[in-house]
Amino acid sequence: SGAVSAEYERKRAGEQIEEAGRLLAEGGVVAFPTETVYGLGADARNTAAVEAVFAAKGRPSDNPLIVHIADMEQLDGLVTEVNETARRLMEAFWPGPLTLVLPVARGAVSPRVTAGLSTVGVRMPAHDIALRLIAAAGCPVAAPSANRSGRPSPTLASHVGEDLDGRIDGIVDGGPTGVGLESTVAEVGRDGVVTVLRPGGITIEQLARYTAGVRLDAALQQAGSGTDIPAAPRAPGMKYAHYAPQGAMRIVSGAAPEAVAAKIQAELDAAAQRGEVTGVLAFDEHIDQYRADLVLSLGSLAALETAAHRLYAALRRFDARGVTYIMAESCSEEGLGSAVMNRLLKAAGHQVIHV
Ligand code: TXA
Ligand code: MG
Repeated sequence: SGAVSAEYERKRAGEQIEEAGRLLAEGGVVAFPTETVYGLGADARNTAAVEAVFAAKGRPSDNPLIVHIADMEQLDGLVTEVNETARRLMEAFWPGPLTLVLPVARGAVSPRVTAGLSTVGVRMPAHDIALRLIAAAGCPVAAPSANRSGRPSPTLASHVGEDLDGRIDGIVDGGPTGVGLESTVAEVGRDGVVTVLRPGGITIEQLARYTAGVRLDAALQQAGSGTDIPAAPRAPGMKYAHYAPQGAMRIVSGAAPEAVAAKIQAELDAAAQRGEVTGVLAFDEHIDQYRADLVLSLGSLAALETAAHRLYAALRRFDARGVTYIMAESCSEEGLGSAVMNRLLKAAGHQVIHV
């Protein structure tokens, strides 16, 4: 019966988590689901294990890793100071998709994790498997997203396999992730003002409810305005061309939806003429207007959680179909739209056509 098989599945999952926890404790490298994207975990204190994570991903060594914890006791050993604002944010959003950048305790994690910074990014994921795995491992777990560097983050275990099969010690399959984009990375200043270094699953509006003020790292605000980023972002990872599909991608943005749709279709038609394999990434409100080799929907403009949930899988589908030219619509940067647009802009290498 269903009840028996559900019980069997639960036990099997429990055994997998125990086994994966053992691998981590022994210095192995294991991918696991979180509520945002799949992570590639290692014991944060073990330099050889952390180096294996960088090697498997092909990740530049100046890009620090987020440390994942399962309970508040684990935090005590990791950081030297948690101010009142940071404490309030933890109470409000942990477990959840918020990474807080805090002063690291000397010797608490391998220097490879922090890439030589005096701070460490910490988060407590809101995912049962992730929390049980960290507890089973009995250590803080350093985990970047479980993709090859430069590829879209994985939202399915099969995405991890595509990128990292044969390069890691295991994958715990927990089905599709929830949010679909990474956590918000935020730093709390002495004045209680929060700087968002990477927009993500917790919105700026949500953070503002608990703090004296929130601003977006200046380097990210310029992101939509040109082809290069003038200031160095404070999250080292934000400077890399990321999440990029293999095809060329352009975003069309403008106040009049008809003008946007007309421009997108004109670009697609011209690309098809040149012999390109074309793709379009659009919202339900306009999706019927497009003709391309692969038309993918990000859901409704009125529910950007769907766009967040679908974006990375969509980018991977363009690659799988061999799409060489992708046109994308844009959305509002309010709420979760800030994170969606940040990732879309990166995927497009900041190539935006304004109409
Ligand atoms: O949702 C997530 O955050 C996922 C899941 C697996 O937890 N992890 C993730 O990790 O996205 P990763 O390595 O792909 O991105 C971490 C980001 C990078 O942009 C990195 O530069 C930044 O966080 N970061 C980490 N530690 C930092 C620190 N001490 N100071 C500033 N930025 C930091
Ligand atoms: Mg990543």
